This record gives sequence, C-alpha cells and structure tokens, in this order.
Amino acid sequence: MEVSSLGLGCMGMSYHRGRIPDRKVSIALIRKAVDEGVTLFDTAEVYGPFVNEELVGEALAPMRKRVMVSTKFGFNIQDGKIAGLNSRPEYIRAVVNQSLKRLRTDYIDLLYQHRVDPNVPIEDVAGTVKDLIQEGKVRRFGLSEASVQTIRKAHAVHPVTVVQSEYSLMWRKPEESVLPALEELGIGFIPYSPLCRGYLAGMLNEQTKFYAANDNRAGLPRYTPEALKLNRPIVDALVDFGISRGMTPAQVALAWLLAQKPWIIPIPGTTKAAHLGENLAVADLQIASEELQELGNVIAKIPIHGDRYTAEEQRRVEK
Ligand SMILES: NC(=O)c1ccc[n+]([C@@H]2O[C@H](COP(=O)([O-])OP(=O)(O)OC[C@H]3O[C@@H](n4cnc5c(N)ncnc54)[C@H](OP(=O)(O)O)[C@@H]3O)[C@@H](O)[C@H]2O)c1
Repeated sequence: MEVSSLGLGCMGMSYHRGRIPDRKVSIALIRKAVDEGVTLFDTAEVYGPFVNEELVGEALAPMRKRVMVSTKFGFNIQDGKIAGLNSRPEYIRAVVNQSLKRLRTDYIDLLYQHRVDPNVPIEDVAGTVKDLIQEGKVRRFGLSEASVQTIRKAHAVHPVTVVQSEYSLMWRKPEESVLPALEELGIGFIPYSPLCRGYLAGMLNEQTKFYAANDNRAGLPRYTPEALKLNRPIVDALVDFGISRGMTPAQVALAWLLAQKPWIIPIPGTTKAAHLGENLAVADLQIASEELQELGNVIAKIPIHGDRYTAEEQRRVEK
C-alpha cells in the first residue's frame, strides 16, 4: 500500500472533538486535502455513529479513484449507542454493506477491526475479512490497538497491511513490542492521535473548556485541568525545539513521528484549513533525524500525568 506521508483523520469533523463545523466546510477541507496530495482518509462506522462515513463518502465521491479510504468495524451499535464490541462474522458483513453505502463506493481500500473482540477468535475475523477481499468489497485488512499475539494470529490467516494504534511523544508503548513485530512482518503502522488529541499543538491548557456533549477529552484523565497544566513541560520542549527551526509544536510532534520509520503514516485530525496546511508542510521539512531522536529522549524523561483512557476504554485495548 502506497500513500502520502501523512493521512487525514476525519473523525473530529463529526465526533469527539467538540463543536461540529458546518458540513460544507468539512467537505471543502477534505477536498482541499486531496488537492494538497493526501491520499489516505480515515473514518469509522462508530464516528457519529455513521455520519462521519457519510461525510467522507460525499466529500470523496468525485475523486474516489485518486484516494484510499479506511474505515473500521467492531463496535456493537444499537439505537445509535455503543453497546460493547461485536466482531461476529455476520455482523462484520452487515456493517461492511452499510459502510459501502455510506461511503458511496463499491470497495473499501482498508478495513480495520477497531477493537479486538474477546468473544470472537481473531482467526474468524481475519477469515471474514479475507472472504470480503475475495468478493471485492474490501482491498486490505487492518487491526487497531491489537497485541502482537493477535497481530500474528490474524496475519497467519490473511496478511495484515497496517496496524493503527495511538502513538505520539506522549504515548510510546507501541515501541515496546508492536513496532518491532510489525517491522519483522512487513506491516505498516498508522499512529492515531499523533498530536495527543491536540495537546502537543500547544493550544490546550488548564483554562480550556471542552464541549462535553461531543468531546471525549472532557472525560479522559489526561485532559483534566490539572493534567493539562502538569504536562506543559512537554509542550515547552516542542516549542523550544521548533522556535529556532521555524516550526510550530504540532509540526515538531509530527516530524518526530515521521522520523521513526518510513512505514509510519500519522493521521492527524483537524477541522481547519490552516491546521491542515501546517500539518502537511511537515513532510517537506528537512530536520535531522538525530536531532528529533534526541528531542524524543529528552521528552521521554519528563513524567506524564493522567492516563490516556478511562478504565473502561483501557480494557478494550489489548496489552
Ligand atoms: N483507531 C482508533 O481507535 C482511533 C482513535 C482515535 C482517533 N483515531 C483516528 O485518528 C485521527 C486523529 O486522532 P485525534 O483527533 O484523536 O487526535 P490528533 O490528530 O492528535 O489531534 C486532533 C486535534 O488536534 C487539533 N489540531 C490538529 N492540528 C493542529 C495544529 N496544527 N495546530 C493546533 N491544533 C491542531 C485539532 O483541532 P482543530 O480541529 O482545531 O485543528 C483536533 O482537536 C482521527 O480523526 C481518527 O481518524 C483512531
């Protein structure tokens, strides 16, 4: 799979990132990203639910063949609410048929299992996606927040193209075992929340009021006023690094990710054209990899306050 150096995370245009912009603005933003060379667009059934896939489908319909769309199944959505996980084969098939309609397409370039379902063997999930690929409805298979053991089992049934998990200067756990396994197996990696849900861009602080009706940060331990204040030294390190190089903290955070491996494709989310331009510009900056690694070493020594997820959400990600 070949894609642009950065993809676009579309979730925040409808879900979990505060006030929802006018639909026309988001459609124009997605199309602007295409014009600027982005070829990977990330959504999921659960974003909304459903409405984010509809938005992405409408925005990309005129340029569908030029881009790749990734979406995800795995949550049990009942009456518009999440009721646990569901990766039973018949449910995956039903979700994919609905996603295809919402995305206004007859194939999904990359289909992820969003969270591993402990009640369904991963081999059955991989087998179902394999069948969907043979039927032409899906092109590639991905996993999200899966353990190395699960990745290996799935990969044995059908090649996994990429794994998508949280990864940023404030969440480096994938380095422990997932990234080495992916390198061994030749699987790509898509860091989600590469700006730590906006924190690494330096615009959030203890005064920030999250729009709780549609912003999951309002309930996450890392975004309490106290944690936002205590974690400031991390942002300060990015500001210091960027100031002499003409980079914003968001750009430094993304440049660090790009410097890790050539097969790592971050998908920062944004609702604003100015932020899109700022984020995409990183791919053309020439920053010595050693300098970025040194920055990573410095930041790794700074204690991080507040868990990234609540206990319930943490249970859904494999260790
Ligand atoms: N697989 C999974 O379980 C999973 C989980 C979460 C997310 N994702 C995917 O990953 C994508 C990105 O994740 P995310 O939204 O959680 O986190 P993120 O990309 O780390 O951060 C997005 C936030 O950063 C802000 N931002 C972006 N660029 C900025 C800039 N240059 N300057 C200042 N602020 C900036 C955005 O606000 P503005 O709108 O104001 O720019 C937005 O609130 C999602 O869209 C989704 O596709 C996947």
